[in-house]
Amino acid sequence: MLHTFHHGDYPIFLGDLRESFPAWLHDRGCSQIYLLTDENTRCHCLPIFLEKTGLPNEVTITEIPAGENFKNLSTCERIWQQMLDAKLDRKALVLNLGGGVIGDMGGFCAATWKRGVDFVQVPTTLLAMTDAAIGGKLGIDFQGVKNTIGVFKNPAAVFVDPDFLKTLPERELRSGFAEVIKHALIGDPELWQMVQSEAVTQSHRLTTSAWLDLLRASIAVKVRIVQEDPLEKGIRALLNFGHTIGHAVESYFLETNEPLTHGEAVAVGMICESLIAASTPPPTPPPNERGDVEDAATTSVHSTSPLPFGGGVGGGVETLIAVISRIFPHRPVPESSFPEIWNLMQQDKKNISGKVRMAVPGATPFSMRILEPGREEVERSLLFYNSLNG
Ligand code: GLY
Repeated sequence: MLHTFHHGDYPIFLGDLRESFPAWLHDRGCSQIYLLTDENTRCHCLPIFLEKTGLPNEVTITEIPAGENFKNLSTCERIWQQMLDAKLDRKALVLNLGGGVIGDMGGFCAATWKRGVDFVQVPTTLLAMTDAAIGGKLGIDFQGVKNTIGVFKNPAAVFVDPDFLKTLPERELRSGFAEVIKHALIGDPELWQMVQSEAVTQSHRLTTSAWLDLLRASIAVKVRIVQEDPLEKGIRALLNFGHTIGHAVESYFLETNEPLTHGEAVAVGMICESLIAASTPPPTPPPNERGDVEDAATTSVHSTSPLPFGGGVGGGVETLIAVISRIFPHRPVPESSFPEIWNLMQQDKKNISGKVRMAVPGATPFSMRILEPGREEVERSLLFYNSLNG
């Protein structure tokens, strides 16, 4: 059964592509279709996509190598060259079939081609379905720093079909869970309960209908935040929970022989950032209308927030660690990498005036705290993560 989110000026269709894509394309029309894919999605997802949508095989297809290592300017040049060869005009439609790298980079190339051609996102990974494909953040990595060059531009539509999840290797599927966990913790206690169930952590056994429930709840959190703050002037920073440390850890491991998936790195980041938050008392709230000052710790404990940060490393962080340990392998971060991790964190886009800033969930769903941890706090949290039993 098709579910449609009406997200600002574009729809997000959740369900079988057959029920959405052909009719949408027919209504919209375009001069040409240019499809971007990578070696994995071409092999495993393109046949499903063509079968479900009835698109002719002769659309222009560009295939790029798979992986974050190729999300860079030289791959963009290759894509733009093929757009030039295909004489792509401004009424063309770019179709990004793949995970976060394809969506971010294909969207970026489309948004800058002849000052912008329309594009649609057809995410094929859990990570892209629940997060990357939604909200118009496009871009590439530069000099090893993630997403440094980019723009905001919304797609013409997003098509989320959970059937593509069947094509994913287990590790890739699990990677996407980091974003689902993030959405649960920042905005949806019921989703957090869902994520904790044994059935969900055995994700490869989920039925299509269970995937649809999980995706609907997770996408709803993302849509609500992005609608409120499309250009990340405020609350959208909360979607970076786990990513300030996570991106740095991911960038570090990318240069080693054993890179982490994005989700594995964000899982490390969520644990570390939660620990830092737990050891940073929230500010005293302003007096209420009667002039009383509520006790911050009490407010946190009695709130409906799935992750009460106020009172030290308590049940909330322990539960998070338990859930993450069931889904992700334990990957200690070498102490020798800490200077580089700190260096990478200093490149984070949220920083202001040289201070590292991280956004963590507040005491209630959809509330946020901004922390400014020092190097010692970050290193202490990484040491604590390392000490957890793998
Ligand atoms: N993935 C974070 C955001 O869209 O803001």
